[in-house]
Amino acid sequence: MNDALRLEVITPDNVGAACKIKVAPDQEAFVAPVVESLAEAYASYATAWPRLVYAGDEPVAFVMGGFDPNAEIEFFRCGIWRLNVAAEHQGKGYGRFATEAVFEEARRRGGNRATVLWKPGEKGPEGFYRKIGFKPTGEEFYGQLVGAIDL
Ligand SMILES: CC(C)(COP(=O)(O)OP(=O)(O)OC[C@H]1O[C@@H](n2cnc3c(N)ncnc32)[C@H](O)[C@@H]1OP(=O)(O)O)[C@@H](O)C(=O)NCCC(=O)NCCS
Repeated sequence: MNDALRLEVITPDNVGAACKIKVAPDQEAFVAPVVESLAEAYASYATAWPRLVYAGDEPVAFVMGGFDPNAEIEFFRCGIWRLNVAAEHQGKGYGRFATEAVFEEARRRGGNRATVLWKPGEKGPEGFYRKIGFKPTGEEFYGQLVGAIDL
């Protein structure tokens, strides 16, 4: 099987598959369900960048970049808005691939810094984001910590 990783835009053909991407139950407190992110993407169509990650023919993760250069809050201008790797596919490098895809899109748009917000907690993504290279900025937003990385 060819399990090369790639991104696809969300279309009528794959939106159902996107909504079936589920994180582990004890991770649900740390990320919105894909269906909610897609509703937000619809409402924020000018700034949301939702994509489905495939390994070969199989959808394995959902990622949503946020690109809003005019946002008043600096950490909402360019970064990772959502990331959900299917529970059964975690630990295979798909999360890293998805973050790098957002970075590539950010650079394409002229960005040189990306941000992410995470909720602290034992089952949360902080260790992952630190591994990717995000550093906490010291800012907090409604209980979430802000991390940033130079691109
Ligand atoms: C956090 C999450 C996105 C990581 O995705 P993943 O595909 O399992 O991560 P990867 O396999 O790409 O891991 C990349 C690196 O991070 C490390 N890593 C992954 N999760 C980690 C964690 N919780 N703590 C420390 N390191 C971690 C991996 O060991 C790997 O290191 P390596 O490059 O040295 O091998 C995934 O666990 C997830 O979807 N969690 C639930 C939803 C969530 O919290 N999303 C983020 C919302 S802000």
